[in-house]
Amino acid sequence: MLIFRDCIKNTCMHNIDIDFIEMTLDIMKYSINRVTDNSPVLGSPKKASELKELVGETITPNGISGEKAFKIWTDILSKANVPINHPRNLSFVPSAPSRASILFDLVTSASNIHGSYWMMGAGGIFAENQAMEWIVSLTGLPEGAFGVFTPGGTGANLSAIVTAREFWRSKNPENKNKKGLIITSGGAHSSVITMAKITDTDVYLIHKEEKLTAKDVEEEINKMSDEDKNRLFAVIATAGTTNAGIIDDLDGIANLCEEKGLWFHIDAAYGGGALASPKVRNLFSGIEKADSITIDPHKWLFTTYDCGAVIYKKPELAKEALSQHGSYLDIFQDEGARGFNPSDYQVQLTRKLRGLSLWFSLAMHGTEVYRKAVENGLELAQKAKELIDENPLLEMVREPGLSCVLFRRKGWLPQDYYQWTYKNHKENIALVTPTKWQKDNVLETVARFCFINPDTTEEDLKIILETMN
Ligand SMILES: Cc1ncc(COP(=O)(O)O)c(C=O)c1O
Repeated sequence: MLIFRDCIKNTCMHNIDIDFIEMTLDIMKYSINRVTDNSPVLGSPKKASELKELVGETITPNGISGEKAFKIWTDILSKANVPINHPRNLSFVPSAPSRASILFDLVTSASNIHGSYWMMGAGGIFAENQAMEWIVSLTGLPEGAFGVFTPGGTGANLSAIVTAREFWRSKNPENKNKKGLIITSGGAHSSVITMAKITDTDVYLIHKEEKLTAKDVEEEINKMSDEDKNRLFAVIATAGTTNAGIIDDLDGIANLCEEKGLWFHIDAAYGGGALASPKVRNLFSGIEKADSITIDPHKWLFTTYDCGAVIYKKPELAKEALSQHGSYLDIFQDEGARGFNPSDYQVQLTRKLRGLSLWFSLAMHGTEVYRKAVENGLELAQKAKELIDENPLLEMVREPGLSCVLFRRKGWLPQDYYQWTYKNHKENIALVTPTKWQKDNVLETVARFCFINPDTTEEDLKIILETMN
């Protein structure tokens, strides 16, 4: 039977014609320029109404042509974004994907592999798993521990919480109808609280942003009613808080969880990258005792968005909690289709092979380059501290936590910090956003740096700090 694959022009979006070739060349040229751009302009958001005025209506019954749509992207829309890899973008947790990782993201998209089941994506999953083996090795978790790549830290935390709760319920049929409870601290990322909400889990929040200790957790447990003690199924600690880079007392909390039969999850979404540096590895002591860990390669492992990871000491518990069943999926259980199925270990079924861009970059550069790039972030934090200490107008709020630096401009009110951020952003100098830090019941607005990008220099720091004079 003859199959006609070509459609009549303008009736099919799968044609390969001259327009498609031209669009391909344009897109490749743009991508090469963007990947090699060493000094991207900061860019700033516009109101939706302003963008609408500039762009007009792009979705029409007959299309506006690839050429026009792409021009709208390059001339208008791309400029209304802030490049996350700008060397003076030190806001939130920035990102600086390696160029190899960006390029391989193009390959991953062009290949568009269904990354859920070995049967569909064995080659890609094999590569992802090699990258995952390296990450797992950094944690020191025992033999058998393994993980999967997720859309980010939020998704990883969700998968871990569901796994922990299902394990708790499976241990005792009485737990099946109980609402679970977790303990975490004020240093935990907002996603922990939101994911608890999604899983209908109550949270005991220890109001403390400094290092959470086993004593804090034990005191909280001791204050609980018996009913709550019976609902408690997990403790979530943070290894590198988003706000200040603080690492909780992982070893002490791990031992307490072991003693009380509680699941121990560690959110190292941001800080986990620092496991690659032997210089700070001791700060993470106890991480090897966790039941589950979140680490985001799209933060401090120089990988393109979106790429998080969740790792389990006993992956079979995640499989029990999260694998999906349906007659249409039975084939994946068959001999021949057998292999590692990432969809069994996190909440997504259809998934992009988002770990491939990390794999390619790791394979190309080797893990030593990752160690050096992470240590560069740690060194920048120390350099920033030196420059702040030297400036009589500035003052450190606390010692740097990993690559996070909190500092104050003496005499500034909260609005001064916000105006400073907006002004620097508008003038294409930097994007450095303020945060808040609580001490002795006072919630103070302060400035914050978070270093990820190895292209950030001491000169960049001087330029930013000068704007505070
Ligand atoms: C400690 C921590 N956990 C979780 C998250 C959420 O990660 P994502 O934004 O990748 O979902 C973040 C984000 O900054 C984080 O810093």
